[in-house]
Amino acid sequence: MEEIKTTSTIQQYTSATELSLEDQQLLNDAKAAVNTSYAPYSRFHVGCALILENGVIIKGSNQENIAYPSGLCAERVAIFHAGASYPDVPVRTMAITVKAEGYVVDKPITSCGACLQSMSEFELKFNKPMRIILQGETGNIWVADSLRTFIPFMFWVDELTK
Ligand code: THU
Repeated sequence: MEEIKTTSTIQQYTSATELSLEDQQLLNDAKAAVNTSYAPYSRFHVGCALILENGVIIKGSNQENIAYPSGLCAERVAIFHAGASYPDVPVRTMAITVKAEGYVVDKPITSCGACLQSMSEFELKFNKPMRIILQGETGNIWVADSLRTFIPFMFWVDELTK
């Protein structure tokens, strides 16, 4: 019997001042993006900001619709924007944060499976890990070196690429 190993490494910080200046800036951009969220139905606002290898920063926020499944998560708004605008440039880091109406989210919230799958394909496409920074409205900050931490086994079928 052989054991299949997965890796999961997250650095936890108690203050943004412990992050590099680039990471602090990106987290601030994600917090600013929360204000562009359109979430009148869930009242749960998600903001994110990604930095490309060329230094360009792209923000995203969740955009809901009264036909509920028609909306889109913040992460996919940003990552697909990046793919559409800079198809040849890898993403270095994405920061994601949230703000709920009526209560304080004091811990990091990890992205949903559909977002992780979509973001993972960018890692694969460029063969380059995407760093992830997470923070709730307040509280500890998580930094992961790769999406693999959150989605160790993405859906992938080599034959579909041929
Ligand atoms: N949402 C995101 O923006 N990202 C995720 O990874 C999960 C959930 C949004 C979708 C919806 O607008 C709200 O959060 C509540 O589910």
